[in-house]
Order: sequence, then C-alpha cells, then structure tokens
Amino acid sequence: MSRILIIYESDYGNTKKMAEAVASGAESVPGTIVSLKQAGEVTADDMTKSDGVIIGTPVHMGSMDHRIKTFIDTVCGGLWMENKMVGKVGAVFATGSGYGGGGGGAELTLLSLLNNLAELGMVLVPLPKNTKGYEYGGLQWGPCGRSAGLHMEQDGIKDESLTAACHHGANVARIAATLKGTAFFA
Ligand SMILES: Cc1cc2nc3c(=O)[nH]c(=O)nc-3n(C[C@H](O)[C@H](O)[C@H](O)COP(=O)(O)O)c2cc1C
Repeated sequence: MSRILIIYESDYGNTKKMAEAVASGAESVPGTIVSLKQAGEVTADDMTKSDGVIIGTPVHMGSMDHRIKTFIDTVCGGLWMENKMVGKVGAVFATGSGYGGGGGGAELTLLSLLNNLAELGMVLVPLPKNTKGYEYGGLQWGPCGRSAGLHMEQDGIKDESLTAACHHGANVARIAATLKGTAFFA
C-alpha cells in the first residue's frame, strides 16, 4: 500500500482540473491511496505519511502561486530542517494562460517547484516525451496545461494536458510503490 498526496491551488478551476486528472491516474494503480488537498490545508504529518507528493500550481507572473510558495517555505521548510522527506517521490504540474506551450513562464515554474522538491531530497519523476498528450500538454518537467486559446480567450485546459496529467499520476504512484521503504545513505 502506498500513499500519494496531490497538493494544488486554483482560483478559476484549471489547476484543480489537472489535479483531479493526476489523482485519477494515481488511483488507477492498485494498492494506492490518494489524497487531494489545497496547499493551505496540508500539514507536516500529511507530508511525512506520504510515499509520493505531486504539487500543482497556476503560473502567476512567471512563477508559482503565492500560496504554494508559502506552503513550501513553512510546512516544507520544517521538513527540510529534519530531512523528513528524503527518498520520497516528488513530481509537479502547472497551468498558465499566456502564449507558449503551457503559458508564459510554465517551464520556469515547473523547474523552480522541482528545485524545492530536490531541496527536500526527494526522488524526482519527469514526464517522458513519449507520454500520451505530451506533444501539447507537457514538458519534460511535468504536465502543463494552457487554459486560454489562440487569442487569449479562456477556453479551459485541453484534453492532451489532462491525459498527460493522468499518466504522470500513474507513473508517480508506480514509482512510489517500488521505492517505498528504500532510502538514501546519509
Ligand atoms: C495574478 C495572475 C498572474 C498570472 N500570470 C501568468 C503568467 O505569468 N503566465 C501565464 O501563462 N499565465 C498567467 N496567469 C494565468 C493563469 O496562470 C492561468 O489562467 C491558470 O490556468 C489559472 O489557473 P486556475 O484556474 O487554477 O487559477 C496569471 C493569472 C493571474 C490571476
């Protein structure tokens, strides 16, 4: 049995929709218990009980949402001090609506979140380019969805992004189950 915690923030529902797709992928892996929470409600206990953590954020001014950053600096900061997340599996996703694949700044946003997970000593899961949906809905760092159309009209997250998100969730769940109980040397 392994536990996957999916953490997100969302003002208009786009990142929430991606989070739900990630959750459906993780739930498809037998023996996985999935929790889906907004960043503000996640405790240190939720984190330490998890075998894998997947964090999703809207892109705000080319970087992560302030509530996600607060969670990183408070809850994750304490866990970082005590090396409590070392060896657990981590992954990320994002949504944006500016121009470019997942929105302007999606790549930087995904990378800076992965950097936070690396600080915690977590094992990072990328999104392989042969993942279904990757061609329009992903970067190597994780799934990203663009919630606007060609002329910036808000037309929601596309199916390709949701498909990539679903596969990402399943990959993380499988890897977390495989690595559970193993540890880095310290
Ligand atoms: C304050 C603010 C800043 C934003 N900055 C960016 C940005 O830099 N790049 C981008 O692609 N989208 C940007 N967006 C658009 C959102 O990232 C996008 O609409 C996203 O899908 C919203 O996710 P949500 O529905 O989960 O809140 C911004 C939105 C807001 C409200």
